[in-house]
Amino acid sequence: MSVNKGVIIALDEGTTNTKAIAIDAQGRIVASASRALSIETPHEGWVQQSGALLIEASFDVVSQVCQAVGSENVAALAISNQRETALGWERATGKAIGPAITWQCSRSAGFCHSLRDNGLEARIRELTGLPVAPLFSGSKMRWLLQSVPDGEQRAARGEICLGTVDSWLLWHFTGGQAFCCDESNASRTQLFNVHTAAWDDELLSIFSIPRGALPEVKPSSGLFGYTHCPGVLPDGIPILAMAGDSHAALFAHTLGEPGCVKATYGTGSSVMAPVNQPGADVACLATTVAWHDGSQRVYALEGNIPHTGDAVTWMAESTGLSELPAEEVRDALNHLPSTVDSTLGVYFVPALTGLGAPWWNDRARGLIQGLSRGVKRAHLIRAALESIAYQVADVIDAMQQCPGFQLHTLMVDGGPTKNDWLMQYQADLLGCPVMRSNIAELSAVGVSLMARKALLNLATQELRAFLPEHIAFQPDMARHERLQVRWQEWHQAVESTLWACR
Ligand code: G3P
Repeated sequence: MSVNKGVIIALDEGTTNTKAIAIDAQGRIVASASRALSIETPHEGWVQQSGALLIEASFDVVSQVCQAVGSENVAALAISNQRETALGWERATGKAIGPAITWQCSRSAGFCHSLRDNGLEARIRELTGLPVAPLFSGSKMRWLLQSVPDGEQRAARGEICLGTVDSWLLWHFTGGQAFCCDESNASRTQLFNVHTAAWDDELLSIFSIPRGALPEVKPSSGLFGYTHCPGVLPDGIPILAMAGDSHAALFAHTLGEPGCVKATYGTGSSVMAPVNQPGADVACLATTVAWHDGSQRVYALEGNIPHTGDAVTWMAESTGLSELPAEEVRDALNHLPSTVDSTLGVYFVPALTGLGAPWWNDRARGLIQGLSRGVKRAHLIRAALESIAYQVADVIDAMQQCPGFQLHTLMVDGGPTKNDWLMQYQADLLGCPVMRSNIAELSAVGVSLMARKALLNLATQELRAFLPEHIAFQPDMARHERLQVRWQEWHQAVESTLWACR
């Protein structure tokens, strides 16, 4: 493997966009491309995408950046991805057997309730570190197998593959030669034993998933296979890292330094803090494998929130704002919340497919509380943005219940962090500095660093020179005091949401 070519292409396959960046040997982003993705909601609470579209869009953005930097300069490919989304495909053809059932989808809620009713929740949590919820891939994979004739039998005979988005992309980037996923993605399936770091027979039996249908699990940093996707990339480029997007972002903030808490703001949000061992002390949080860097496994405490950026998108669509050109929508979202002093008492609880951490209620549905005659679009948009800050603060509040946990600073990344108003509101609400990465697309940067580590055989700490810089939002402590009242009122709105779905 030549190391003097130097450019790493990092693909970040998200829910609403797929992006690729090319990073040179000095750590500079030298090319980028992005494509919006469509999401289907065929039934109430169901959310899915076309697996073929995920491949087509990913091929498109990767080939664009490859052409921009010259294919002869590309040393490696790295993949970060939306997590928990499940796919099934025929091993012989690579054709999907159904939609990509995305992480937000609650179609497997009934099965998850039956697991709880059968008293299995504590055991599943003990083995996986995760609460029982339709968010995780295992119940979605089960649904996929049950949606095709003889699905389970065919999977047991090795005719059907099941995987997370990283394994689906890897399969197609290698022309069907590699069927693997990384530990961070595996740890989001609820089929992976977080203590033994392997697929677990007891869990496979609970979810009725044949072992032979699942990918080989590998460290996040290391060789996954070589490209074979004519017209997209030259043959033989090594794929040297794969990781869930949130995990990759945590890596890019501080390489997993203890005491770091980060929030990735995307369609939903993931609040994560690295820990030394699995086993969350707080029931509403998950323990997950943050990554395996090739020599060491790092764990993380995590709270997942299904609708944050998505809540603002929904509100922009519902108030007609999104009919403006994309650029004007972005400006309006930055500008509108500060044109009003408050939301006029409006709270928006965006439980559009349920509530995640710390509430975990898949029956909950969204609520707009406190509408009065004077409420205008600006108030509603502000309420949607505020809901992001409250939800992140609720997860951090739950983390504070873990012995020894202390919040000094919140590191943040993701598209919605470009909104200065939101960042200041978050800092004021929490009463601590919020450090925004100067690169919004931190997941791609994180996975490129994991690939760089494998490419140059570096120690993780040697990547420090490549870490992006941060901009600080300092809290206004007088406003912090005032916002505690707002936060309590938000909790009352959450209580009303939970009460309505009893
Ligand atoms: O856990 C879901 C998360 O990975 C989705 O990421 O970027 O699509 O919001 P994103």
